Amino acid sequence: MLETDVTRPRLLEVTDLHAWYGDSKALHGIDLHALKGEVICLVGRNGAGKSTTLRSIIGSLKRRTGSIRFRDKETIAMPPRSIAGLGIGYVPEERGIFATLTVEENLKLPRIVHQERMSFEDIYELFPNLKTRLKTFGTKLSGGEQQMLSIARVLQTGSRFLMMDEPTEGLAPVVVDHIADSIELLKQRDFTIVLVEANLKFASRLADRFYVVEQGRIVDHIEPSREVGEGHVERLQAYIGV
Ligand SMILES: Nc1ncnc2c1ncn2[C@@H]1O[C@H](COP(=O)(O)OP(=O)(O)OP(=O)(O)O)[C@@H](O)[C@H]1O
Ligand SMILES: [Mg+2]
Repeated sequence: MLETDVTRPRLLEVTDLHAWYGDSKALHGIDLHALKGEVICLVGRNGAGKSTTLRSIIGSLKRRTGSIRFRDKETIAMPPRSIAGLGIGYVPEERGIFATLTVEENLKLPRIVHQERMSFEDIYELFPNLKTRLKTFGTKLSGGEQQMLSIARVLQTGSRFLMMDEPTEGLAPVVVDHIADSIELLKQRDFTIVLVEANLKFASRLADRFYVVEQGRIVDHIEPSREVGEGHVERLQAYIGV
């Protein structure tokens, strides 16, 4: 593990990140990083600041201070469009797909940020359901299909760094397994992924490292490969109280 730490570049480096909604402060100094090819996972109770951390990284939450470096570029003062242009893909909790557009239209809408991107055939291989639903409107999709479309839209842009906010929320176990298989495949292809996840069984299958968020701060860092057996799951459960 030490060796990979040295050889893999830090794709994302967040240092002393503070963020506000208007005058209300939500983040009080977040420090985290992601190495190229890693899956990192943010866990924590409701209102801890997990989604806010992602929103600060993509710049949709504008009032923020500290440092957010992506591929060695400081992004803290950049507008969201420029940040997305660097190849940061965001799959929001509310999935963000257009209900009045078809699957195909939804897929083709987002701006391409990297020409060397996944082909549609590659994407349909990952999510075969989508291929059979190309002419279907967003409103008619199941929750699982919406989630797959939301991920597929980001892959289509060519981003190789994805942030996903609670991708399994409200989904049936069989769909959760499918999403986990897809993320595993992306990991094998050297994508870097930041997950916010409450389903620890799902997250444990994928995450190289966990950050525990509490009241806008990182209060613990857990690396399963350094723990004995499944000890990390108990530690994480203690934090989120399940
Ligand atoms: N749009 C908003 N306006 C004002 N305050 C907000 C807004 N969104 C979140 N907050 C506040 O910011 C803090 C962090 O919220 P955040 O949504 O990041 O938590 P979270 O860890 O994602 O929680 P959850 O598990 O419920 O999704 C909370 O105190 C929350 O009330
Ligand atoms: Mg949230």
